[in-house]
Amino acid sequence: MSLPAVAIIGGTGFLGQQISNAFLTDFRSSFSRIRVLTRDPSSQKAQDLASKGAELIKYSGDELEKSFDEAFAGADVIVNALPGGADKETKQAIIKAIARSGAKVYFLSEFGSDHRINDFPGYESEEWLGKQEIAKETRAAFKGKVIALYTSAFIELAVKFPALGIDVKNNAFTAYGSPTTKISLTSLADIGRAVARLSILATDPVTAASVPDDIRIAGDTVTIEGVRDIVARVKGVTPGEIKTVDVAPIKETLKGPSPQFFDYLRRVALFPLCPHGGDGMYSHAWVCNRVVLGEGKADFSSQNDNELVNPGGKLWKWQTVEEAIGGL
Ligand SMILES: NC(=O)c1ccc[n+]([C@@H]2O[C@H](COP(=O)([O-])OP(=O)(O)OC[C@H]3O[C@@H](n4cnc5c(N)ncnc54)[C@H](OP(=O)(O)O)[C@@H]3O)[C@@H](O)[C@H]2O)c1
Repeated sequence: MSLPAVAIIGGTGFLGQQISNAFLTDFRSSFSRIRVLTRDPSSQKAQDLASKGAELIKYSGDELEKSFDEAFAGADVIVNALPGGADKETKQAIIKAIARSGAKVYFLSEFGSDHRINDFPGYESEEWLGKQEIAKETRAAFKGKVIALYTSAFIELAVKFPALGIDVKNNAFTAYGSPTTKISLTSLADIGRAVARLSILATDPVTAASVPDDIRIAGDTVTIEGVRDIVARVKGVTPGEIKTVDVAPIKETLKGPSPQFFDYLRRVALFPLCPHGGDGMYSHAWVCNRVVLGEGKADFSSQNDNELVNPGGKLWKWQTVEEAIGGL
């Protein structure tokens, strides 16, 4: 059997770079070609990947479908790591092009909350609604395997920015719901490895049937209280204060008009501003994420596919939250 070829859309991105890296390094010998699609092959990120052996493929707004057809020619695996904010035209052109391609496996740009189980009837986050619509259209159009990989939140974001209630710098913590509710988090590098490993399993006729369409991984699972203790231990500080927020009234505000919702959050002042975010961090989508954490729906510890992806942790060691905090 010849080795599979892979094409990575958004492979220069925050997550995409780490996915590209996994294919170009640890898993290089399992793939024949690694193409990274980009709007700008001259960018530093694209050039860094090229120096590691990636074939850069430029796609342009003028001829989206033609660009994607060329980029996907001969690809066995196509990975989509575009941001949710990518324009509709691009998303639609991708669905049409993968449907025409001869690829066997396609990864949806999921990589976050398992929104199949989230409970916001009639007031769901726009981001998740958009992902659900894309998944439905893709599964109807593409005859190969469509994989949704749910990773919960990225470890790097959770420990660097206070948006999930972990403020390492100020040793301050906010829990939506109980501070002992479990929260799964996965590092970018481990997500990259998981995508490469699943690509191998899903393209090998011997193992392809063992790969489900919906896959959950959990690099590490912690609680806000546990993270508070990790910070105290690793940074040598007194255990910080944990503020707790009742989930029910916050969830209620998600149903209401936005101004009322923002005012409420500002009043309770329990939703910290992200350094780069301003009011963006008060967004409906982010608060939905916090509620999901508070409701225990980001706990992937007992139901996950870690064993399929990385049996016995023998292929790599999953990064822990403690290691990430130690490296800050
Ligand atoms: N679980 C979590 O905590 C979490 C956090 C963040 C993101 N995510 C998910 O991870 C996936 C990837 O997100 P990301 O933040 O890594 O993406 P990103 O870095 O914002 O974008 C990935 C790449 O896509 C291209 N791109 C950016 N904006 C675009 C646009 N508007 N139209 C077309 N192409 C565009 C850029 O490549 P070129 O400039 O080279 O073309 C960029 O390098 C998404 O599904 C997102 O929802 C999850």
